[in-house]
Amino acid sequence: MILTQHYLACLSHASYLIGDETTGRAVVVDPRRDVGVYLQEAAERGLWIERVIETHVHADFLSGHLELADRTGAVICYGAGAEVGFPVEPLHNGQRLSLGEVTLEILATPGHTPESICVVVWEHPDDPAPHGVLTGDTLFVGDVGRPDLLASVGAELSADALARRLYWSLHDKLLLLPDATRVYPAHGAGSACGKALSTETTSTIGEQRRTNYALQDMGEDAFVAAVTEGQPARPRYFAFDARANREAHALLDERPPCLLGLDDVLVRREAGAVLLDAREPAEFAVAHLAGAINIGLQGRFAEWAGDVLPPDRDIVLVGDPALAAEAKVRLGRVGLDRVVGQLADPASVFADRPELVQRSSRLTIGQLAELRGLEPDLQLVDVRAAAETAGGAIPGAVQIPLAVLADSLDGLDPNLPVVACCASGYRSVVAASTLAATGFRDVSDLLGGYAAWQGAGLPVAHGAERSVAARTPQVSARAAESLVDDGAVLLDVREPAEWRSGHAPQAILIPMGDVRARRDELPAAKPIIVVCRSGGRSAAITDALRAHGYDAVNLTGGMCAWTAAGLPVVTEAGEAADPEDPWRQALEQGMVVHRAEPLNCETAPAALIGGVVMPTARFYVRNHFRAPAIDASAWRLEVTGLVERPLALRLRELSRMPAETRVVTLECAGNGRYCLDPPVEGEPWRLGAVSTAEWTGVPLLEVLDRAGVVPEAREVVFRGADRGAVEGRAGQVHFERSLPLDTARSSQALLAYAMNGEALPFQHGYPVRLVVPGWYGVASVKWLTAIELADHSFDGYFQADKYWYEADGTAREPVTLQRVRALITDPGQDEELPPGQVTVRGVAWSGAAPIARVEVSINEGSWQQARLIRNRHRHSWQRWELLTALAQPGTNSIRARATDLAGRTQPGQSQWNRQGYGNNAIENVLVQVTP
Ligand code: MTE
Repeated sequence: MILTQHYLACLSHASYLIGDETTGRAVVVDPRRDVGVYLQEAAERGLWIERVIETHVHADFLSGHLELADRTGAVICYGAGAEVGFPVEPLHNGQRLSLGEVTLEILATPGHTPESICVVVWEHPDDPAPHGVLTGDTLFVGDVGRPDLLASVGAELSADALARRLYWSLHDKLLLLPDATRVYPAHGAGSACGKALSTETTSTIGEQRRTNYALQDMGEDAFVAAVTEGQPARPRYFAFDARANREAHALLDERPPCLLGLDDVLVRREAGAVLLDAREPAEFAVAHLAGAINIGLQGRFAEWAGDVLPPDRDIVLVGDPALAAEAKVRLGRVGLDRVVGQLADPASVFADRPELVQRSSRLTIGQLAELRGLEPDLQLVDVRAAAETAGGAIPGAVQIPLAVLADSLDGLDPNLPVVACCASGYRSVVAASTLAATGFRDVSDLLGGYAAWQGAGLPVAHGAERSVAARTPQVSARAAESLVDDGAVLLDVREPAEWRSGHAPQAILIPMGDVRARRDELPAAKPIIVVCRSGGRSAAITDALRAHGYDAVNLTGGMCAWTAAGLPVVTEAGEAADPEDPWRQALEQGMVVHRAEPLNCETAPAALIGGVVMPTARFYVRNHFRAPAIDASAWRLEVTGLVERPLALRLRELSRMPAETRVVTLECAGNGRYCLDPPVEGEPWRLGAVSTAEWTGVPLLEVLDRAGVVPEAREVVFRGADRGAVEGRAGQVHFERSLPLDTARSSQALLAYAMNGEALPFQHGYPVRLVVPGWYGVASVKWLTAIELADHSFDGYFQADKYWYEADGTAREPVTLQRVRALITDPGQDEELPPGQVTVRGVAWSGAAPIARVEVSINEGSWQQARLIRNRHRHSWQRWELLTALAQPGTNSIRARATDLAGRTQPGQSQWNRQGYGNNAIENVLVQVTP
């Protein structure tokens, strides 16, 4: 006898092929829709599939009976009474089907559905005991089939009536089989056809008799109560699949979807098609076509697609074309057959059409806690199933299982911010992208999900408990200060970078994520005041500490309120007793340090590899003077000169103005100076004085408009707080730079107060700096204190004397936009490699225009075009890679050259100039190939 279980983990679905080796006759039970696996097995084993048996009309996937019948001529069999729209052979209770020696005996087992059957398998007709039983959805390992699904549509039977039938099917039929009988169910753990399915995919009648909760000693009524309670929400697609399984529908089309151009995709989207992106959530988050729903192929793809995609709309795949064929088949498994195509070249759409591309917002638990403090209307949606949320949830979360989300949007306000969360951060992306595609404006999801929240020891709610904020005891900033004077502990739970940028002098630092592990450091006998940036993270920690018996209160409004109340703040500069400190930190991060005071360091080439955004600690630092000491509470940004309304903005006022976040690459104009020949004076930057960060702040335009620029104004001068002596000028000069007014208006410049989601670090210009996208870094004035509008050009030292391209002492050209350049980040200079394939990777950028292409030449050979990886924003660098080969042993040269959409290409040779700026000559990486 041959009995093979074909288990499809992503749908938790088991199907079976049973064959008789003596005759070659076989049946397939409960097949999936892509029937190639059965055909292949039959061919390999010399079997002929003569019947396809369905244990019932399935609701959770589209079954492959029509496909198998079409491919093999097999007869389709259902339990007698099944109402289906195609010819079938009905199977009756007690009926025996012989395959030769192997014999199948039908048991009618109504309950999950009225027409459900089980199939007892005898290896030989006269064996004293059966080999096993295929139990369909009647009996699972650890559970029984739920009786409340729509598969019973048409039978007009209630869940209660079906549960009673199930009780008798189990007790009068299945449990009469001997204990040794093997149990082969149609589903395993994860299926929504029951609530407690085991991860085992087979068992025995004896084991189930002993351990299955539904088979324990209980009367009919108790059984009915036990199996109808606590079932997961019925997934949205079940009704559709149950109906489709009854009908004679089109066969599965397993051909890969056709490729569509962007215009075609947009037309179809307009006409109502759903855009589906099957890449991993992390890739999707970086860039995706606006309006696309993300369901990663690695998860329970088909099931979640069934949960959120309407079966009556066309689907266009817009993720990685390499995933398209598989995605289409897997969608077909749940009946989502309307895949009309795949976007032909998403990478170039992401690169060339930034207006069509979105990033998704993913929050850490710290950011979520903080946001909840700032945003009382925030809607937190937990999309886990009821059985999961029963064990606890984030306080205040609305529970809407993913299976019903698309039909449950009425209670949510699309105009208010919403954050989706799940167990670990995979389903939440499906939910968040679905909400965004449905028109919700401000959608995020929670990285790490409930597990991260709970793992950090933050408070959780059970049952009806809701809001945390209402219960958390609060204290104002001034009251907190006097409590601290009386001996209370002030516990700051922000991240070290935020702490360094300014904290209360009396505070101690334990970042939120460490509090659980370091709770013992806190005094049990003293009051503890918990503070963060705005009062959200600290509220969560306050509750967690109180739950462990600490006398904790939350500082309302956090450090923002503390600073606004004029209470003392210490910054890193105020504390800078040890000037080597920032330098040490830079060294610890693997930076190449050129000078410790003022700090000047660049990113080591290896650290340039990785995501688009550079971790803040590895972002190069270029300081002309010693960094200034700034007290954030006294800081003002003055806007003066030719304006109608001079301003003196506090940090608090600035942070209340409309803000924007931009990913921008900054590059020092001297980057690459080290390679110039003959050498020139200045910091000897190699190639790492370039980095990319996500900057948040107020658009410069917004502040200029608020001040009202008068028509005579031509130039905008930006002043930094740092100053010092310079050659050829008397006294101390501030670091000052200017931009022509038109440029200042059109450049999308930001007055940034945050870098990569955290307060601007001290070395990068705390509390506020200018960020001018596309320009060499010198334009992006740090520690900004004043903006002055003038009617004449500015002649400060860093404008008139420095930052000019001077080839021969007479011709001069100012340093403005970043020149086009590619860097090779992998392999590294002098790296040893074996001969054969190698992936060359790097980044490329240009101030003037997005990157059009990057080409690589090996050993001076022809230029090969590299693949541009995903999209980048208009002003951030573009990652690229090329799979190529290094055949020749010894030293090999790898060169990469970028060209931008404005047609600028890197020169082969450095363009020498006296101050050593803008050296964007093609890089040459030499590697050693050793067999
Ligand atoms: N702003 C002030 N106030 N002082 C400076 O020395 N250096 C400029 C610019 N803004 C500078 C400044 C230069 S030359 C560069 S390349 C960038 O800041 C470097 O920014 P970063 O240190 O954040 O990388």
